[in-house]
Parts: sequence; structure tokens; C-alpha cells
Amino acid sequence: MSQKQTFDNVLSLIREKINSETNRDSSLQFISDTLKEKINHYDWVGFYLVEGENDLILGPYAGEPTVHTRIKFGSGICGQAAETKKIFIVQDVSKELNYLSCSPTVKSEIVLPIMKSGNVVGELDIDSHTISPFSDEDKEFLVRICSMVGKYF
Ligand code: SME
Repeated sequence: MSQKQTFDNVLSLIREKINSETNRDSSLQFISDTLKEKINHYDWVGFYLVEGENDLILGPYAGEPTVHTRIKFGSGICGQAAETKKIFIVQDVSKELNYLSCSPTVKSEIVLPIMKSGNVVGELDIDSHTISPFSDEDKEFLVRICSMVGKYF
């Protein structure tokens, strides 16, 4: 199966879940599990939820537990994405100075803000054990998921 077919199939599964699931955590857990299981280069997948003005709290995730359960805006890749409202793609985390390491096995990371009415309400965070695994297709695929997830906020 081509990567495009895999992305299309996974998008259908996730769309179906979001259309039928009213519980936010159940849905975010399903998305985390599905992305980790179906996409080879996604080794840790999770959501951070904005709390108050300045904090990200770890929500549902799939993969190894992380010590980074609360992250301030501006801190690490997650905090920078929240502060700037921009997607961060770091193809080699060893070159990123403002980075919070979870495990030495992680080589790259993509973080996408989840937006609602112009505000960041959460983030989708994905770690990979491969250097430079994230393409424009990954970005487009994940942007679509983040936009669907907006309905829970
Ligand atoms: N590496 C992230 C911290 C979160 S973990 O990847 C789960 C960062 O630099 O913000």
C-alpha cells in the first residue's frame, strides 16, 4: 500500500470515530493509538491540552510514558508551537536548542497546534525514532486531523 493510501485509510477511520464519538478523551485516545499503530514512523503520539493562559497538560497518548506532563508556553518544541501558533517540524532534535527530551531514542518531532476561534486549545505531538521522516504529506494529513478534532473544544 502506498503512503497516500495508508493516510487516506487512516483518515477514514479517524473521521468515522470523530463523527460518532462525543467523549473527547476517548476520541483523542483512539486517534493516538491508531496513528501510532498504522504509521510506521510515528513512535509516540499524544495530545497536550491548554490549561489557563500558559500551560500545556498531557492528555491521551500512545507510547512510552513521558516526564513532560506539564509544559509552559515557550518551553521546548511543544511550548514554542503553542506560543507562536505555528506548526513545528524538527527533522533532527539534536540540532534544536529549545527541546525537552523524553528519550534518547527520539530523533525527530512534529507538533501541530489545535486552534479554536484563533486560540490554541491543544496540540498534536508526534515523535519518531528516525531522522527526517516528516514530509509535506505528513503535515497535510495531520493538519486535517487537528482541524477535525477542533469540534471537541
Ligand atoms: N519533546 C517535546 C516534549 C514532549 S515529548 O516529546 C512527549 C518538546 O520539546 O516540547
